[in-house]
Amino acid sequence: MKLITAIIQPERLDAVKQELFNAEVYKMTVSRVRGCGQQRGYSEHYRGQIHKVVLLEKVRLEIAVNDEYEDSTIRAIIKGAKSGNIGDGKIFVSDLTRCIRIRTEETGSEAIG
Ligand SMILES: Nc1ncnc2c1ncn2[C@@H]1O[C@H](COP(=O)(O)OP(=O)(O)OP(=O)(O)O)[C@@H](O)[C@H]1O
Ligand SMILES: [Mg+2]
Repeated sequence: MKLITAIIQPERLDAVKQELFNAEVYKMTVSRVRGCGQQRGYSEHYRGQIHKVVLLEKVRLEIAVNDEYEDSTIRAIIKGAKSGNIGDGKIFVSDLTRCIRIRTEETGSEAIG
């Protein structure tokens, strides 16, 4: 199992959701977050020093999937989120060791799917 965490531009959320649905990925958690990447959000330079670091509004998606959905989920996120501009976002993939559906106490692949 994998936990796919994606940070995307908020205005891309609808497109990403559509692509995920097309890829038959229906379960997700979505949060509004703030962050900055390699441009440090917005920065002002004065005598070589950065004086201002601004955190930009972003959207975080957390999607837990069985291994066979890893690549298609990533492709769907890229398809929906990519404009080619800086700030398009980032995808982090982690190994997921446990998942438990509280209602039934099912675990692992059954609980995820
Ligand atoms: N290494 C990181 N650790 C944690 N969060 C990150 C990291 N890199 C990016 N993020 C998060 O992802 C958001 C979007 O990142 P962003 O797309 O700007 O990445 P980037 O590395 O600056 O690439 P680009 O040059 O395309 O802008 C950031 O605002 C931040 O919330
Ligand atoms: Mg950036």
